[in-house]
Amino acid sequence: MDRLLIVRLARNAVLPLAYIIFTAAAFVIAGYFLALKTQSSMLFCKDGNFKQFLIKKVPVVREKYLPSICGFNGYAHTVLATLFRDIITPTVVYDREILTLNDGGELAVDWLYPKYKGPQSLVTVLILTGLTGDSQSEYVRETVNELFEKGYCCVVLNYRGRGGVKLKTARTYSATNIEDLTEVLKHVKSKRPNSPIAGIGFSMGGTLLGTFLMSSEQEKNKHLVTGILISVPWNVKQACKNAEGSWLMRKMGKNLSHHLRSVVVKNKDVIFKQDNDRSLDYNIIKRCNTIREFDTAYTIKIFNYTNVYHYYEDATLSNKLHLINVPCLCLSAADDPFLYFRDIPVNEADNHGNLAILVTSGGGHVGYLDTFWPFTNNNFMLKLIQQYFDAIMVDKNYEKFVSL
Ligand SMILES: *[C@@H]1O[C@H](CO)[C@@H](O)[C@H](O)[C@H]1NC(C)=O
Ligand SMILES: *[C@@H]1O[C@H](CO)[C@@H](O)[C@H](O)[C@H]1NC(C)=O
Repeated sequence: MDRLLIVRLARNAVLPLAYIIFTAAAFVIAGYFLALKTQSSMLFCKDGNFKQFLIKKVPVVREKYLPSICGFNGYAHTVLATLFRDIITPTVVYDREILTLNDGGELAVDWLYPKYKGPQSLVTVLILTGLTGDSQSEYVRETVNELFEKGYCCVVLNYRGRGGVKLKTARTYSATNIEDLTEVLKHVKSKRPNSPIAGIGFSMGGTLLGTFLMSSEQEKNKHLVTGILISVPWNVKQACKNAEGSWLMRKMGKNLSHHLRSVVVKNKDVIFKQDNDRSLDYNIIKRCNTIREFDTAYTIKIFNYTNVYHYYEDATLSNKLHLINVPCLCLSAADDPFLYFRDIPVNEADNHGNLAILVTSGGGHVGYLDTFWPFTNNNFMLKLIQQYFDAIMVDKNYEKFVSL
C-alpha cells in the first residue's frame, strides 16, 4: 500500500477513533467509580461497647470500600482476585507438623513462627481455609504473610486429605464437625500455653469456626478469644443453589467439585479398603459435578447425615448467632456470587452485643481487591484483619466483650 495513504488513514481515522475510545473509556471508568463511591459499607451490630470499639479502633469499618476496577461484578472479582493473588503472593515456608488424631487419621498443621519478640508474637492466629483450600491457597498465603509482617504467630489447619497429606481412613472433613479442630486447638494450646488464640475462617472455614464458637467445647474450655469470619456462606443451601444457578457459577462449582473429588480419587485405596457399611460408590463420586452432588455421594455418608439438606441446615449459622459469646467480626460482600444480601443475618447481628457483620457493596467471594492497580499485596480484607487483631488483642481487649 502507498505509504502516504497509510499516514493519511492513520491521521484521519485511527487517531480520532482512538481518541473517541479513550475518552469513552475514561468516562465509563469515572462513572463507575463515582457510582460505587456513593455506597459505603454497613456495620451491623447492636449499639454498644463493641460497636463503638470497632468504629473507634478499626478505622477501615468506617471507610468507603472502593473495589478495584476488575471487581465490576462479584463473579469477575472472585475469579480475578484468585488469579492476581496467585501471581503476586510469594509461597510461604512453614514448619509442618503431622498430627495423628484420636481415630488414627492424620492432618497437617503448618506453622509460621513470629520473626521477633513483641506484643503480637504472643498471639497465635489459627487459620481455617475454604472448602478446597490448604496452607498454600493464595488468600491464606496473603493473610499469613501480612500477619507475619506484623509479628503474629500463624498456624494453618490443613483438613484431612489436603495440603499433600494422604488419608489414613475414609473420613475427610465437614463444615460442621468440630472434632478435628478441637484436637488441633488442644495441640496448639499445649505448644503455646500462654498464648491467646484468635481464629480466622474463610468461606467454609468460617462456617467451621462459627460452629466451633457456638459449641459447648468452646463454652467450657474457652479455646478461642475472638474470631473473624470472611465471606461465610450464611445460608449454605442457598449458596449451593447459587453455585448451580448460572453458567459461570456452574463452571466454578465444577472446578470446586473437581478438587473435592480428587481427594477421593487420590485416596481410593484407603477409602474403599475400609468402606464396610457406608455404601460409597466410587463411580458416582467420580462423576460429581457440583458441590451438592459430592456432599450427597460422600460427605453426608462419612458424617452420618440422612440427607444433604440436613447437613446444609446444620451448617447454616444465621439462626444460632446468639450462641457466640466471644467478640466476633464478620466480613461479607453484597455481591458475593454465592450469597444474596437477604441471606446475610443483619437483623441477628443488629441484636448482638459482641458480633458484628460488615457488609460491603462489592468484594465478591474472598475477593476484596481495592486499588486501581490490582497487583498489590494490600487490600481491604487484609487491612480489616490486621487492624482488628491489633485493636482486640492489645491489653486483652477481647475480655471486655465477652457476653455471659
Ligand atoms: C479448574 O481447576 C483445574 C485444576 O486445578 C485448573 O487447572 C483449572 O485452571 C481450573 N479452571 C478454572 C476455570 O478455574
Ligand atoms: C458414623 O456412624 C458410624 C457407625 O455408627 C460410626 O462408626 C462413625 O464414627 C460415625 N461418624 C461420625 C463422624 O460421627
